Amino acid sequence: MTDTPTRPGLKPARPFFSSGPCAKPPGWDPARLATASLGRSHRSKLGKQRLKYCIDLMRETLGLPDTHRIGIVPGSDTGAYEMAMWTMLGQRPVTALAWESFGEGWVTDAVKQLKLDPHVVRAEYGQLPDLQAVDWSHDVLFTWNGTTSGARVPNGDWIAPDRQGLSFADATSAVFAYDLPWDRIDVATFSWQKVLGGEGAHGVLILGPRAVERLESYTPPWPLPKVFRLVAKGKLAEGLFAGETINTPSMLAVEDAIWSLEWARSLGPRGLIARSDANAAALDRIVEERAWLGHLAPDPATRSRTSVCLTVEGADEALIKRMAALLEAEHAAYDVAGYRDAPPGLRIWCGATVDTADVEALGPWLDWAYATAKAA
Ligand SMILES: Cc1ncc(COP(=O)(O)O)c(C=O)c1O
Repeated sequence: MTDTPTRPGLKPARPFFSSGPCAKPPGWDPARLATASLGRSHRSKLGKQRLKYCIDLMRETLGLPDTHRIGIVPGSDTGAYEMAMWTMLGQRPVTALAWESFGEGWVTDAVKQLKLDPHVVRAEYGQLPDLQAVDWSHDVLFTWNGTTSGARVPNGDWIAPDRQGLSFADATSAVFAYDLPWDRIDVATFSWQKVLGGEGAHGVLILGPRAVERLESYTPPWPLPKVFRLVAKGKLAEGLFAGETINTPSMLAVEDAIWSLEWARSLGPRGLIARSDANAAALDRIVEERAWLGHLAPDPATRSRTSVCLTVEGADEALIKRMAALLEAEHAAYDVAGYRDAPPGLRIWCGATVDTADVEALGPWLDWAYATAKAA
């Protein structure tokens, strides 16, 4: 007979460690959201003001330079990224980089839907491909932070400053967690549901000047649904970047994003990044103290500080499922099983909306869940 492992005393106060939708910011309460814009037209004076305010707050919090436009679009991060692919690709050769499930999804779109015959460069979960080998005469598709593998690009130094192609960054679990070099980014997309702890449904599309030039000078050969259209009569639809959305947004999701962004602003310029770094460091200490836990992304320079993916000694899918179920039943940690396509392991979100004390409280609970799941 094995001893029953003892339950630790202290629980994370907010056991929300999902990698999307992610924990709400500390202090969030639906009763604290502004609601005057609800039940009103999003094209009313107030509706447009709130959408514009949301855009302005995002620009400020991201430190986005005036060279880049930022707009709210349908379809969460997927909608924003596909909008970019569908409207801008096809003019020149394409390289698609994939090191986890979402990057692989963009490869599938480029190959099977757009039939672009891209140069595909892959790496195993936890690894990155040779970024120095990227040919910047191509348009380049990549994921800044691989949410399902815990591997991220270290910085933007590998993106050629004099590139002919465009850089397309799926940056959904990277924005607000890393300093992004906007001069190297022609297109970036994200959704509020990740580092901001906001809602899905809407995507955010960021366009640099070279992306705008592409949009205004190139028309793809395939049809574009209305929700993807960024250009009217050969000119960028500028209204979109001032809050005139293509179709009806959820003003509740917008108000929720505004609340998170105001919280972010209250933390100061590097506040979100500092919180994420502290969380990732706390989790790292937990991993270092345990021989049975490891990082799926071994190199700290390319390891995510938001979606941290962990290996568990001797684990298969069933063991991870049991661990995650035990932690959930105890309300000690929700949604910590790795992504379904990734090698079996744990994934702990360390983005800014998580409190460091809660990450710290997780260590003994992971021990308990591992011992209990193994004994079962
Ligand atoms: C890197 C990456 N890309 C795309 C997506 C899809 O995001 P959404 O569901 O917001 O469209 C996710 C969601 O987890 C992601 O992590």
